[in-house]
Amino acid sequence: MTENLIQNTVAFVQEQLKGAEAGHDWFHIERVWKLSKKIAVNENCNLDVVELAALLHDIADPKFHAGDETLALKIAGKFLESQNGSPEMIAQVLFIIKNISFKNRDEVPAVLPIELKIVQDADRIDAIGAIGIARTFNFGGFKNNLMYHPEIAPKLNMTKEEYKKSEGTTINHFYEKLLLLKDLMHTETAKALAQERHDFMLKFLSEFEKEWNVS
Ligand code: ADP
Ligand code: NI
Repeated sequence: MTENLIQNTVAFVQEQLKGAEAGHDWFHIERVWKLSKKIAVNENCNLDVVELAALLHDIADPKFHAGDETLALKIAGKFLESQNGSPEMIAQVLFIIKNISFKNRDEVPAVLPIELKIVQDADRIDAIGAIGIARTFNFGGFKNNLMYHPEIAPKLNMTKEEYKKSEGTTINHFYEKLLLLKDLMHTETAKALAQERHDFMLKFLSEFEKEWNVS
């Protein structure tokens, strides 16, 4: 029964994300799903909720849907109801989709369920390291942002509204978000993975600077 539900969800998400930007496509979801399972092995949690939330967490990202923050909840809720999910399970999954985003981090409840912590850690791990670098430059290209500008400084402590419309450079995104993620990990498994990926990004930034300055 559960196995069936997971397989149906995989097929549904693959269909929904056809044509998505390469940093937020099915393969991002697949990596977050795998990372979530890897983290979940070391935690006491409801694995169905973890897997379903990982699969459905970017089903309708507001960035790509005119800022609409309710669409993903509607689509995921309708899908899970069509699969005869229990109301408790559906509520747990929707809670994670609603609260997972980096830009909403100041608005979430103080006490988070372990299932949310796991999927959030997995999503954040996929935002850093080599994959994180690739996704970030892909998104910057998609938005036609500059890679780097020596006179545009990173903006730390942006409000949610400023963050959403930030037209800064892709290199600045490392200082505005990616390098902050290591210290926001909840689980020990993710903390260890994050450290390695963080160090790799630092190395990349230092090489980038060296090559930019032709030094
Ligand atoms: P979340 O999905 O947690 O809300 P974001 O949507 O801000 O996080 O970012 C998801 C990924 O999209 C980032 O990790 C990054 O790769 C890319 N991204 C988002 N905003 C930018 C930006 N301004 N410049 C470059 N990449 C970005
Ligand atoms: Ni994601």
